[in-house]
Amino acid sequence: MKVNGTAYRTIWLAPDGRTVEIIDQTRLPHDFAVVRLTTLDEAAHAIRAMLVRGAPLIGATAAYGVALALRANASDAALDQACAVLNATRPTAVNLRWALERMRRHLHALPVAERVTAAYAEAAAVADEDVAICRAIGEHGAALIREAAKRKPPGEPVHVLTHCNAGWLATVDWGTALAPVYVAFEEGIPLHVWVDETRPRNQGASLTAWELNKHGVPHTVIVDNVGGHLMQHGQVDLCIVGTDRTTASGDVCNKIGTYLKALAAHDNGVPFYVALPSPTIDWCIDDGVKEIPIEERHGAEVTDLTGITKDGRIETIRVTPEGSDVANFAFDVTPARLVSALITERGVCPASREGLLGLFPEQRAVA
Ligand code: MRU
Repeated sequence: MKVNGTAYRTIWLAPDGRTVEIIDQTRLPHDFAVVRLTTLDEAAHAIRAMLVRGAPLIGATAAYGVALALRANASDAALDQACAVLNATRPTAVNLRWALERMRRHLHALPVAERVTAAYAEAAAVADEDVAICRAIGEHGAALIREAAKRKPPGEPVHVLTHCNAGWLATVDWGTALAPVYVAFEEGIPLHVWVDETRPRNQGASLTAWELNKHGVPHTVIVDNVGGHLMQHGQVDLCIVGTDRTTASGDVCNKIGTYLKALAAHDNGVPFYVALPSPTIDWCIDDGVKEIPIEERHGAEVTDLTGITKDGRIETIRVTPEGSDVANFAFDVTPARLVSALITERGVCPASREGLLGLFPEQRAVA
């Protein structure tokens, strides 16, 4: 997608052909900064500290992290160690494990001398495939927006509500939940996006708003508690969110607060769609609430807020009283029964085992 007229992905190989460049998402929306990753530790830090985030981008960064690690040492032991370090960075998004398993399997089978070149090529393939997958999600999801547009009075925008950032910043390009929005926008369908701020890290207010703004898509940032009210008043035509891990039976784990939006959507008859690339499906588990590890992050993300002052300084302030305990659960699980449909790169399906297996029959042996 374009930033001030220049096309960007969220991760790419630097012109030196060795180091990897990313957009530092902790500095958005106030500062667009590109950061260079040169070692395994830098790649692991980028994921852990959320310079890169979003399930598909975490996977792509981990793949490049393996390539960076092998430049220093391409032995079996070093490969295993690199995968272990990267796998420990964040627990919930299954794309991380998926990308690392793919890299490990591919590279272990090769002679040590061929591994570095092969690792860069495989990481590039992971990234390129993500772009194609997200574009396909966009095409399939745009059909749902087109249908919603037909039910609106002519010229009235379709109102889409989204949570967190599942746009191009969360993937290599296009996004998952926002890909249908971008494709529908390209087609000229009038639309408007309600952007949940998504406390505590504000990925909606900082990242989704930034990328929609750069792309010229009409949008309004709302605090997290507004969605239910809007739905009661007919101001949301559909919800589309992303997911960090989807079980074989269609439960979806996504940014904290997604579940409450799904409940409100269900109560108000608003379609609730979840957009996902297939590497986000964990075919080994069924019950999302019981089986998906939920990341708990530092309490400072709850107690503190960071923003820009009127004179242009980035400052962090505390909003809670000193001494109050805080809890910071980063994700929650929305049961399949609250999901109207899943939007994948192969099409739209019911959020159920049979729905998913209908699109991915090759997984019948696993799921
Ligand atoms: O903690 P984050 O910012 O990595 O969480 C991101 C999300 O929850 C996204 O909605 C999810 O990764 C789907 S993105 C395509």
